[in-house]
Amino acid sequence: MEIAKVAVVGLGSMGSGIAQLAVEAGFETVGRELTPELGEKAKAQITRFLARKVEKGQLDAGADEAAVARLSLTTDFADLADCDLVIEAAFESLEVKQQLFSELEAVVRPDAILASNTSALSVTEIASLTERPERVVGMHFFNPAPLMPLVEIVRAERTDEQVFETAYAFAERLGKQPIRCNDTPGFVVNRILIPLLNDCVRVLDEAGVSVEDLDKAMKFGAGWPMGPATLADLVGLDIHVHASEALYEKLREPRMAPPPRLARMATAGKLGRKSGEGFYRYD
Ligand SMILES: NC(=O)c1ccc[n+]([C@@H]2O[C@H](COP(=O)([O-])OP(=O)(O)OC[C@H]3O[C@@H](n4cnc5c(N)ncnc54)[C@H](O)[C@@H]3O)[C@@H](O)[C@H]2O)c1
Repeated sequence: MEIAKVAVVGLGSMGSGIAQLAVEAGFETVGRELTPELGEKAKAQITRFLARKVEKGQLDAGADEAAVARLSLTTDFADLADCDLVIEAAFESLEVKQQLFSELEAVVRPDAILASNTSALSVTEIASLTERPERVVGMHFFNPAPLMPLVEIVRAERTDEQVFETAYAFAERLGKQPIRCNDTPGFVVNRILIPLLNDCVRVLDEAGVSVEDLDKAMKFGAGWPMGPATLADLVGLDIHVHASEALYEKLREPRMAPPPRLARMATAGKLGRKSGEGFYRYD
C-alpha cells in the first residue's frame, strides 16, 4: 500500500519528533493536537530543530522551510479523513488510546493504517474496540524520535501482514532501522533493557560499587557506549520507573519491579538530566 499522506495524533515529545521525521522525508503531514496552542508550540519546535540542522550543514538551505510547509495543524479529526497512515502518540493510557482509535476509525478510509507509538500498552488491546483491528499496528519510536534510529514494528494479534509490512517500509522511508516483533510486554528493547538497568541499580547497593565505577565497569568491561547510571539519567528516572512498573504488572517477574532506590529518587524529583540531578548532577 502506498503512503502519501500521514497524520500524527498528539504532538508531545514523541509526536512532534515523528511529525518532524515525516515532513523531512517529504510526506504531507497533519498534526492533531487538543488545542491550537499546543499544535503551534510543536510546530515552532519542529521549525527550530530543522533550522538548526541547516545551520549544522545536515540539511540543505531552504529544505527546512519546505519541510515545515508540509505540516498542517488541526484539532479536528475530520481533517484526517484523507490520510493513509495515522500515527497515534498521545498520553499513555489504554482508555485514551481506545477512545482515540474509535474516533479515528470513524473518519479515515477503511484501508487507512492506524499505528500506535505506545511503549508499554498492548497494541492488541488498543485495537480490540475497533471494527477493523487488522489495520492496527504498533510503531514504537525511541526518544528522541528524530535521533534514535530504531523503530519496533509491532504485530498485534490481528494485524494484517500487508499493514505490518507497509508500516515497516514507512519506517525505512523515514530513514529508520525498523525491526519486526510481536505484541509482547516491553516488545524487544524495553523487555531486555528495563530489568537490566534494574539489576545494575541493585548491584550498586549489593556490591558497594560507586556510581562512577558501575558506569566504568559496564563501559570498559562490557563495551557499553555509556554506563547504566548515565543511561538511566538520560532516559529519565520517572519514565524508567513507570515502564518498569508496567512490565512488572504484566510479567510478575521480580527483576521487572523498580528497585526501591530508583523509586525513591523518582519520587524526590531526581529524574536525571531533565531535572538537573539523577545519579549525576547536571549544571
Ligand atoms: N517519552 C518517551 O520516552 C517515549 C518513548 C517511546 C514511546 N513513547 C510513547 O509515546 C506516547 C506519547 O508520549 P510522550 O512522551 O510524547 O508524551 P507527552 O506528554 O509529551 O505528549 C502526550 C500527548 O498526548 C496528548 N494528549 C493528552 N491527553 C490526551 C487525550 N485525552 N486525548 C488526546 N490526546 C491527549 C497531549 O496533548 C500530547 O500531545 C505514549 O504512548 C508513550 O508511551 C514515549
